[in-house]
Amino acid sequence: MPCPFMHHFCTNIDVETIYRRWHFGVSQLPRNGYTGGAMYILRAFGGTLYWIGSLVMVYNLMKTAAAGKFLANEEAEAPALEKKVITGGHWHAALERRPIQFTILALIAILIGGVIEMVPTFLIKSNIPTIASVKPYTPLELQGRDIYIREGCNSCHSQMVRPFRWETERYGEYSKAGEFVYDHPFLWGSKRTGPDLHRVGKKYPDSWHYYHMYDPTSTSQGSLMPRYPWLYDNYYSHENIGKKISAMRTLGVPYEEGYEDQALADMQQQADKIAAQLKVENIETDPNLEIIALIAYLQRLGTDIKVQESTAAQ
Ligand code: HEC
Repeated sequence: MPCPFMHHFCTNIDVETIYRRWHFGVSQLPRNGYTGGAMYILRAFGGTLYWIGSLVMVYNLMKTAAAGKFLANEEAEAPALEKKVITGGHWHAALERRPIQFTILALIAILIGGVIEMVPTFLIKSNIPTIASVKPYTPLELQGRDIYIREGCNSCHSQMVRPFRWETERYGEYSKAGEFVYDHPFLWGSKRTGPDLHRVGKKYPDSWHYYHMYDPTSTSQGSLMPRYPWLYDNYYSHENIGKKISAMRTLGVPYEEGYEDQALADMQQQADKIAAQLKVENIETDPNLEIIALIAYLQRLGTDIKVQESTAAQ
């Protein structure tokens, strides 16, 4: 039987096996937000030890204090300091005996290093290799992204696959700097209570996200992810999309001049397409609901370089 303990321990199983086994693996182990009984027992045991230790310490301090007696004034005497002149040593010892001069010289040395590092990056326009196939978000995806930010999804999910085997085998191709050029702000995140989402686009059908966001346990047994039922009642804004496009352009996203006027139509068209796709899977829904925008965003994530890896340019 393949090792169920995920790839940290078994590096030789193929990617397929890992993907198929992932769910089994995490539900057995206390990882990534799935409940794991053993973890909680161990944590309780560790915590108990910690508390016993603290109580012993308090008891010890009290006993020690009680054993002594208060001494208000103690006579103290010390011999006068002799003035010593130190000489000799290596040549640089002379410098080390002059802390102020030494600090100034050290600062100058560090500044030279800093200048050498920084000046080149000021002189070039961008040091992020752009990837030709990476395009700005569509209006609907922008709305979805803002919902993602509003709901704080990035407090549990990172969007940054690191270039390590145990990450790329689980999530896919590692993230490139050029893939984030249109992300304002970045949503890299720093905590993985749930899995990384940078390559989640097109991993599941739209219907999967539809069910998952409504009740994560419906698709992922034992999931600890919260439910987001209000996304199925609330509508994303149709009014502000033009302003969002201009705001993004101010930040350097190359939307065409005048795209503001086209954005609403494009947004509705994409939403209708997703709703139609959901209908094929027997889900009747309103294309103006927030969940539709969120699905659009999630399905886009990390897909730009999947499409045309070969045409990616420096
Ligand atoms: C409290 C932490 C938490 C928050 C907040 C959270 N999630 Fe999750 N998420 C999880 C966990 C744990 C899983 C793994 C179990 C599962 O599939 O539900 C997960 C799984 C997922 C998956 C499936 C990933 C995969 O590759 O299988 C997606 C997509 C997702 N979350 C999207 C979101 C979105 C969008 C939000 C914000 C609206 C969000 N999550 C908020 C914890 C969280």
